[in-house]
Amino acid sequence: MIGESSWVVADTADMWNAPEFFCSFSAKQAVSAVLFVSALGVYEARLNGQRVGRYVCAPGWTNDKKWLQYQRYDVTEMLHARNELVVSLGRGWRMHAHGIAATGFKDTDIALIATLVLTHKGGNSAVLRADDFSCRESGAVYNDMYNGETFDATYAGKALGIRKIDLPKDILAPQFGPETVEHERLAVKEVIRTPAGETVLDFGQNLAGYVEFTTQAARGVEWILTHFETLDQYGNAYTGNYGKAKSQVRYISDGEPRVFKPKHTLYGFRYVKLENVDRVDPKAFSAIVVHSEMERTGFFECSDARVNKLFKNTVWGQRGNFIEVPTDCPQRSERFGWTGDANAFCRTAVYHYDADLFFAKWLRDIASEQREDGSLPSICPHRGWLAAIHEASRAKGKKASPFWCDAFVAIAYELYLTYGNKRILASQFNAMAKWVDYLISQSKCGIREYDEQWIGDWLSPDPRNPDGARWSHADPKRNDLYAGKTSCTLIASCCFANSLEILVKSGRILGRDVAPYDERLATVKKAFVERFIDEAGELADNTQTGCALALHYELCGEHRRTVAAQLARLVREKKRITCGFIGTAFVLSALSDNGYAKESYDLLLNDDYPSWLYMVKMGATTIWESWRGVEPNGAPSRTGFGSLNHHALGSVGAWLYRGVAGIRYDESKPGFARVNFEPMTDARLSWARASLKTRRGIVRSEWRREDGRTVYVFAKPPGCTASIRIDGECMEMKNRDELVVAR
Ligand code: BGC
Repeated sequence: MIGESSWVVADTADMWNAPEFFCSFSAKQAVSAVLFVSALGVYEARLNGQRVGRYVCAPGWTNDKKWLQYQRYDVTEMLHARNELVVSLGRGWRMHAHGIAATGFKDTDIALIATLVLTHKGGNSAVLRADDFSCRESGAVYNDMYNGETFDATYAGKALGIRKIDLPKDILAPQFGPETVEHERLAVKEVIRTPAGETVLDFGQNLAGYVEFTTQAARGVEWILTHFETLDQYGNAYTGNYGKAKSQVRYISDGEPRVFKPKHTLYGFRYVKLENVDRVDPKAFSAIVVHSEMERTGFFECSDARVNKLFKNTVWGQRGNFIEVPTDCPQRSERFGWTGDANAFCRTAVYHYDADLFFAKWLRDIASEQREDGSLPSICPHRGWLAAIHEASRAKGKKASPFWCDAFVAIAYELYLTYGNKRILASQFNAMAKWVDYLISQSKCGIREYDEQWIGDWLSPDPRNPDGARWSHADPKRNDLYAGKTSCTLIASCCFANSLEILVKSGRILGRDVAPYDERLATVKKAFVERFIDEAGELADNTQTGCALALHYELCGEHRRTVAAQLARLVREKKRITCGFIGTAFVLSALSDNGYAKESYDLLLNDDYPSWLYMVKMGATTIWESWRGVEPNGAPSRTGFGSLNHHALGSVGAWLYRGVAGIRYDESKPGFARVNFEPMTDARLSWARASLKTRRGIVRSEWRREDGRTVYVFAKPPGCTASIRIDGECMEMKNRDELVVAR
């Protein structure tokens, strides 16, 4: 149906105005009306002044070189006798301001395709196509995802012509992923007058979305709202960590009181600085939280309020970044689907929310980006200013990034384990095999040698050269400060082995012949031990990340216990975490699964820099990009990586569910057909509890200290089997769905 329309563009050279396409029609005879729409860019449709659907920044964000979602709306209930349909079109993720500066504006950058089907009594139908729409400029005189939106309520807007344009239609696919929608509204918590004389609204929570406000300014007055995440050490507004993103709303009043919110842009923020607003009525502003629709499934609480805050912050980290694709951050001029961040966080994400469809959609994007040689991009969708930089380094010989690109395989398997989603393995198997073939082609004798200059254990506070200069793209050799001490070859080889192993397991699940991969896996595992384990049975790379990764991916063979002891020793020696994105995701479980739960708790409960609770102590309401997101004196980070809403280090959430509360799936019976309870207690907590809404029902685990004993309560859905393991003692949960055990 949608294909009956042509692709159309506004005939304009103005690349900033968000044009409106519109048409009037009579529907006296209509018994039903269905609207099909999609766009390159983002659109909002209104019928008779009312918004069609709930999708914010529709049609979403995909690899639109290959596929683009369209939406279908039944608008029958919205019909009048005479109707006006208006579809406004913004730039969205298609083109960012500084991308435009680099490459110029093409009229194919934003385009609309739309069909309205009216069915009349008796079954006849009439079809309205975008080809027949009219077009005009709108009051949204500027829109850009990074810089924000300027709305001029006084601007009448010129009439524009429309042009049909030859863009592919075979990329169009029905809505597949979850829609991005508005969630709750947050009221202003405090109006702050800063020492610098600024007026600032504090919403009390770092989030992604936008602000809705009621204007009451005189005609011609321009309100400026600048979104930001933190005050500096003096209590003034700080926007230095936003890069090139201005992240503003500018509203020019026509003198009428109006309720306004931006249509085509999103913001990451906790605070908003107001300019030109004479009298501030806090009730006139509310922050609207926006993210992809997912059902909340996981909950956790314990006796330590700081840990509870940390847990909440990891949930907010997901809410702020799961918008169409898992982004690194929602605020600065980056906001890309960085694969490594999602690889680190996915084990937490799939418990916090039912993220099955969200990830399945993104994996489809990643697969669609796969290159001839099987390699995958580090950001997906692979577009925007960063894609150009990555392409340039690829041309110079840079290979696909370990752990980052391996996310494709790891996340697919995580969906299978958590939701029992075999379809994802089936649909991605060939692409997974192609990726693994690429890794094989990159490896020599089972080892994937990897250039030491690249990402590595990103933002590890254990730099190779602590005095090294700040990293810059211009001189990648200086990356040593942020890549961490763990060798990239070790990381690459671990991830190679893990991707290969997942491929073998997936192949077996799907009944494919994976014998050659299986044989290779044995060689790779052997090679790993030979290359990386020293004579004493320890990992030669003496780092927390190296040990954690090798243990988590089960690559230490007979040396497992020695490497686990090495990891525990490293933690005791340093008394702090020294991992970046990669190691952080696995260090707690690598310790506690090998008998060192106390050391896991030592890391969890430490609140000195670097630690999760340091973030909490410093007032974080989300998870920071780097452990040093805020300096101990309250000054913004000096690391240059100062996003305060990055989900990656929130990977600790997985251990709260799976370690502290001990709710685990069973690899042999995925999707919680079998539950393994393995809670880990510690004297520093007096109780903990978690619940998880699985596809089979609610799983609960709780423990508390009572009269010198620990009382455990376990609950599982009927029809599932469950095992319990407490301090090494194992039992089966037979003939009951709830069990209380005291030890
Ligand atoms: C992003 C990250 C990402 C990293 C990798 C950063 O700029 O914000 O989250 O994974 O680059 O190099």
